[in-house]
Amino acid sequence: MVNWSVSDAHSSLQMVRVWDLPTRLFHWLLVLSVFTALLTGFLAPEWWLGLHLTAGYAIVLLLVFRFVWGIFGTEYARLSNMANATRGIWNYVRGLALLRPPHYFGHNPAGVFMIFGFLAVFVVLVVTGLMIEGGEEKQGPLAGVTTYALGHRAKEVHEVLALLVLLMIGIHIAGVSVESWLQGVNLVRGMIDGLMPRPWGYHIPTPRRARPLAAGSVILVLAIATGGALYALSTLPPLGIPPMAENATYRAECGACHWSFHPSLLPRSSWEQLLAKLDEHFGEDASLPADKKNEIARYLAAYSGESWDTEAANRFRLVSASDPMQITKTSYWVAKHRQIDPKLFQSAAVKSSSNCTACHKDADTGRFDDQRIEVPKASGP
Ligand code: HEC
Ligand code: HEC
Repeated sequence: MVNWSVSDAHSSLQMVRVWDLPTRLFHWLLVLSVFTALLTGFLAPEWWLGLHLTAGYAIVLLLVFRFVWGIFGTEYARLSNMANATRGIWNYVRGLALLRPPHYFGHNPAGVFMIFGFLAVFVVLVVTGLMIEGGEEKQGPLAGVTTYALGHRAKEVHEVLALLVLLMIGIHIAGVSVESWLQGVNLVRGMIDGLMPRPWGYHIPTPRRARPLAAGSVILVLAIATGGALYALSTLPPLGIPPMAENATYRAECGACHWSFHPSLLPRSSWEQLLAKLDEHFGEDASLPADKKNEIARYLAAYSGESWDTEAANRFRLVSASDPMQITKTSYWVAKHRQIDPKLFQSAAVKSSSNCTACHKDADTGRFDDQRIEVPKASGP
């Protein structure tokens, strides 16, 4: 039992280890990972996605560890101990209203609600994160089973929950500060050295010991099982990235003046319109003999945006009403490249905004992964 409230904790302060080392390590590693995930998620440019994903996977591992340790850890790390502590919530709220909250050895009820809230939110965050990674980016273990649309919906949940986490962190820090002040105990230090004052005269019932061997074995089994499952999933081909044959005619003819655009970057109707007017092709005459034109038409129709489920294909499918043949006129393209200095597009290294390969190293695959963006340094025009 946990809520050994006392009226006067200041009378005697024998320090007793309450938080075991794994629990404390978990706490601070989680702080670090969540801070990194929030920072890279909210502030950093897209090509930092790699760090965001690393932080996300670290949170997955930490959560798995914490749930196992919640079963086999020392008394105060156990989920059952914490669940018991929630019973004291009304007592706690009443005390808090009178500015004399009961003192606790171990968890206080409000703290436990906060922890359970955090754990639940983090679980949903990592699951939606994996869905976005799989659906929108076509990366990670869920790429073979998640559509773009599903990933996109998961993103809405992910973003709302990320804001909620910010709010919860604020409440958590405020709560810890107020508790520390009201109790005259430095709770932050307690999470570092694991010590908490034991109120004088308090008999501590035998706390349950940790079972590290059991915890280790369960973690090992879980690691092998989930690792195997994730590996099996990640061998599935990503959903909506069909194997595409190269077409030499397309490469040669449409790659003569600019990069031969990946067929997924425009919908079928746009390619048809474009091929119908090759003699007036953006101020150039790009006419072709009928046989070559037909071959290219068949190729582009077979692999146009409709056949793909990548983020690029999904977004560029919504062409501009006034310029349906230009990828660079779609609202998505404009929005994504707004922050780039227009001079860079004219620079010697890039030459034109439609020279996608200058900055997107994987443009030929149609994936346009965030991690493969490498913007050249602006040199003279
Ligand atoms: C004679 C040179 C030439 C040839 C050949 C040519 N293009 Fe172009 N293309 C241009 C120019 C010039 C532009 C406009 C400037 C720019 O965006 O680079 C352009 C722009 C485009 C764009 C719009 C890019 C954007 O979003 O701004 C598409 C799509 C395109 N071409 C497709 C094709 C296809 C498909 C073929 C082959 C059938 C082809 N082009 C052959 C010169 C050419
Ligand atoms: C001068 C460099 C440059 C050129 C040229 C360029 N891009 Fe980009 N692109 C970027 C940068 C930088 C970003 C990331 C912007 C951000 O979100 O902060 C980006 C983002 C994108 C994204 C979004 C990626 C994602 O997952 O969020 C797509 C899709 C994309 N570009 C497609 C294109 C296409 C298609 C072309 C050619 C018609 C093109 N880009 C030309 C630099 C460039």
